[in-house]
Amino acid sequence: MIDAARRMLADGRRVVSFSGAGLSAESGVGTFRDAPDGMWANYDPARLASPEGFAADPKLVIDWYAARRRTVGDAQPNPAHLALAGRGDILHVTQNVDDLLTRAGADGVISLHGSIDFDRCHAGCGHEERVDMTDPPGLRDCPACGAPLRPAVVWFGEPLPSSDWLDAEQACRDCDVLLVIGTSAVVYPAAGLIGLAKSAGAGIIIVNTHQSDASGLADVELLGKASEVVPALLDEPARPR
Ligand code: APR
Repeated sequence: MIDAARRMLADGRRVVSFSGAGLSAESGVGTFRDAPDGMWANYDPARLASPEGFAADPKLVIDWYAARRRTVGDAQPNPAHLALAGRGDILHVTQNVDDLLTRAGADGVISLHGSIDFDRCHAGCGHEERVDMTDPPGLRDCPACGAPLRPAVVWFGEPLPSSDWLDAEQACRDCDVLLVIGTSAVVYPAAGLIGLAKSAGAGIIIVNTHQSDASGLADVELLGKASEVVPALLDEPARPR
């Protein structure tokens, strides 16, 4: 199976990677839906990752993100991040809000669900600033308009950043191989990119520890840990874009 996937990658001219929380799991950044310790098994996403939850208890939300920020700040890219970053010919689209792929050296990562290492104005005045992940801020106001600042991530019920979404859609429509890594493929619209690539004629390679909602779309599905399987897949030299 892995040889078939490597051949697809070797023949691919426009390869896109599409990743989820499983890519960063071995860096110590928890996933959301893996039982028993997936984040949403222990925390209520409606209370912690939604505008309604923020309105109801902003301090609870900001304190929870502060803990996540420390975790991400202490985390290091794993061999899967490094292998992906080492392939300048692959365009990376991620659902992850951590910066591990960028810290591994990848350029131009499209982060569909935002970036946990930034705060932005909740009222949308445009103010945005990087935060210190080792000493994350508490609840505070936007210096530009006085509204609350909140993590620059996409909460449930919020739209994805339109330019990132359009770029990701175009990349998945144009690619000839989509390498899907560590996602349950249950959160839309992001998960819809896999079907979009498939219907546009791309070959689909999935790397995941378990079967997912995208398994039926896979041309090759490799069940294993990202840090082991992805380097084995990608150790070919990069080609110019
Ligand atoms: N290597 C490969 N795959 C892994 C690993 C690993 N080490 N560990 C877990 N997985 C797989 C799990 O089997 C699961 O299918 O990664 C997937 C993680 O799925 P989720 O926890 O649902 O995360 P994700 O798909 O990224 O969630 C999508 O949901 O909560 C929102 O905004 C959040 O971006 C997130 C979105």
